[in-house]
Amino acid sequence: MRQRRIRDLDEKLDVYSGGIYVNPRALKGRWQAVFEKEQPLFMELGCGKGQFIRSLAAAHPERNYLAVEGNGSVLLRALQRTARESLGIAIDQDDRNVLLKHPSDAPAIEKMVPEGIFAVDRERAGITGEERFDSPWRSAEGDRLFAAGPNLVYAYTYIRSVPEVFQDGELTGIYLNFSDPWPKDRQANRRLTHRRYLEGYRAALQPGGCLEFKTDNEALFRFSVEEFEACGLERLEYTENLHEPDAAYESAGFMTEYEQKFSSLGHPIYYCKVKFEKR
Ligand SMILES: C[S@@+](CC[C@H](N)C(=O)[O-])C[C@H]1O[C@@H](n2cnc3c(N)ncnc32)[C@H](O)[C@@H]1O
Repeated sequence: MRQRRIRDLDEKLDVYSGGIYVNPRALKGRWQAVFEKEQPLFMELGCGKGQFIRSLAAAHPERNYLAVEGNGSVLLRALQRTARESLGIAIDQDDRNVLLKHPSDAPAIEKMVPEGIFAVDRERAGITGEERFDSPWRSAEGDRLFAAGPNLVYAYTYIRSVPEVFQDGELTGIYLNFSDPWPKDRQANRRLTHRRYLEGYRAALQPGGCLEFKTDNEALFRFSVEEFEACGLERLEYTENLHEPDAAYESAGFMTEYEQKFSSLGHPIYYCKVKFEKR
């Protein structure tokens, strides 16, 4: 599922600029401030098109979620889907105009959509009159013009060092889903479950914080489990077939895009949940 780079990507991403954080290092120690409420913070590193974290955030309003993605083209898709699913709006093919599904959505959108040309889907909304008009909508509260949700925000960045982005104990949980396998031995330290990353997660997580990891890649899974053991992490859950009948793993109920694709092809999904304590 390689994503080709989208034309005018930066301009298109700019439509959502109020809901994505592009300089996460500046927010180290202050992540709670970007959410509506202060509550336990969970991060997905490499969220892809974001289906997993969006459904998790909707199911757990009592937690905050940070979706991190370094590939802008993929992130754009995540943002478009968020707009469509959560806010009931759609961005048209130019990625510039907002299509309003129903006039009653307007007050909600007024707070969230950045300034720009605004188009009403007249047929669906049953509106007569101007079809297109300039609407420099701004948030009454200030600069947070587009939010993925009260408890979900996106960060557009490749994280190479977790402690550069999070203060000690700032996170309660971390999710890694279908992380890039980096199959060559010499690339092992790029894998997000390499001990170099694991020690970074340990610092960023509060004591007792958990990492949940899913993949269809057996070699990556075996490597990861060895790394978890080498770092002395306590194994809380483990399965080599997350979707086996009668299994009751919470994670099975929140599918990622890759998981859906590979499960439908009959691939088993490997899953492990581990707990971190401070050294
Ligand atoms: C194979 S995709 C899986 C996407 C999604 N988690 C899923 O399961 O459908 C892995 C994604 O992680 C992103 N990624 C990998 N390393 C990353 C890093 N260090 N920081 C941010 N994103 C990363 C890649 O850009 C890619 O979109």
